[in-house]
Amino acid sequence: MRPTLGVLFVCLGNICRSPTAEAVMARRIADAGLADAVWVDSCGTAAYHIGSPPDRRAQRAGAARGYDLSPLRARQLQADDFSRFDYLLAMDAANLRAIQAIAPRGHRGEIRLLMDCATAPAVREVPDPYYGAGDGFAEVLDLVEQATEGLLGVLQARLTG
Ligand code: 4NP
Repeated sequence: MRPTLGVLFVCLGNICRSPTAEAVMARRIADAGLADAVWVDSCGTAAYHIGSPPDRRAQRAGAARGYDLSPLRARQLQADDFSRFDYLLAMDAANLRAIQAIAPRGHRGEIRLLMDCATAPAVREVPDPYYGAGDGFAEVLDLVEQATEGLLGVLQARLTG
């Protein structure tokens, strides 16, 4: 049976932040026994990296916490995502605006910032780690783990409520 709720994580390139969020949330869903009820995917608002696997740095940072990003491949946000998904969650304000800019009138999916799902978010955006040095990818994981914990609660409430 097709899962009830669909969640789409959206960043710019779909090779750093949103595949990380997809892998982290997939684990939370499996651990919560909700694999039959919730499905996840990710995409980018830009076309630069279509078909590419996640950035090596994102794969390495994810693997260090037990997340396997290697099977994922980048794709671009498309019109039918607005009807296929219940939630379209943007990593930052620029991508939130890019999603809203192409959202069809009367679309089904709820468009929000991912960090707004965290119960006590210290920041509103997941910073783009692509050009940065250092710990950007670990910070992405910290923020995504925090936000997806809140997101799981939102989905559980919706499924039981
Ligand atoms: P992402 O990171 O949006 O988290 O996947 C980026 C990936 C690629 C580029 C920018 C951000 N880029 O400019 O190619």
